[in-house]
Amino acid sequence: MQNSEYHSLRDKITKELRNQVRCVPIEERKDTGVLSAELMSSICHGKYQLCWRGVDIMKDPLDLAIVQQLLWELKPRTVIEFGAYKGGSALWAADMLKMFDCKSRVISVDIDLSLLDSEAKKSTHVEFIEGDLMQVETIFPAEFLKTLEHPWFLVEDAHVNVKGILEHFDHFTEPGDYICIEDTNPLAPAVSGQGLVKELGYTLFGPKKLNELKNFLSGRSQTYMVDQRYTDMFGYNATWNMNGFLKRM
Ligand SMILES: C[S@@+](CC[C@H](N)C(=O)[O-])C[C@H]1O[C@@H](n2cnc3c(N)ncnc32)[C@H](O)[C@@H]1O
Repeated sequence: MQNSEYHSLRDKITKELRNQVRCVPIEERKDTGVLSAELMSSICHGKYQLCWRGVDIMKDPLDLAIVQQLLWELKPRTVIEFGAYKGGSALWAADMLKMFDCKSRVISVDIDLSLLDSEAKKSTHVEFIEGDLMQVETIFPAEFLKTLEHPWFLVEDAHVNVKGILEHFDHFTEPGDYICIEDTNPLAPAVSGQGLVKELGYTLFGPKKLNELKNFLSGRSQTYMVDQRYTDMFGYNATWNMNGFLKRM
């Protein structure tokens, strides 16, 4: 392919994207996706081996690509991750934003920070906070949240008190902020390591988290819309985060 053809390809893509409706209420979205359980199980084989700077990062390659695009586009001034584990994904987000020359505050919460990898602990670009997300108001009191600059990128990956966390943050989000609710795809594995460790088999996560998301959005679907540019970048809901990329309108 000649270089000139690549240029016209980029023009064509830009025009096509401009013509697509980007953000829609969740009611307009189906609870299905193009990824089969078999394919997700196969991708999990790599997902559970993946590291960033030697630190485990529990992300699949599709969502890593989607989120880096989102971070570039949004240039969040604040990132809050719920569920740090070893700190790999917070470290990755902070590194991406640093590369993008974006002055962002990255905060990651976990109930057990003893899990943190030393490489993540060393980072001066991530603030790790220990706390129980069942008491989200205690970890993130109103006075603190009001000091955090927007736009925000919130990432829910602890799988606890999802509705409670979203409802608490709802009081403080502003138009333009983004929320990513991870693992809403019912075909994601129920147990970490499935797809990699043969003995674990492959059981489905099921619709629990997707239902929690829908529950939160009930009555709020005009306030938080699904950004289809991200959910469907690689095909309809070709993501672990089915209908899980939300923009605050
Ligand atoms: C799936 S892991 C997070 C993975 C990480 N975000 C990544 O992508 O590498 C979920 C984390 O949520 C944490 N967690 C579970 N219950 C919690 C709670 N009640 N409060 C805070 N963190 C919790 C666990 O300790 C675990 O480290």
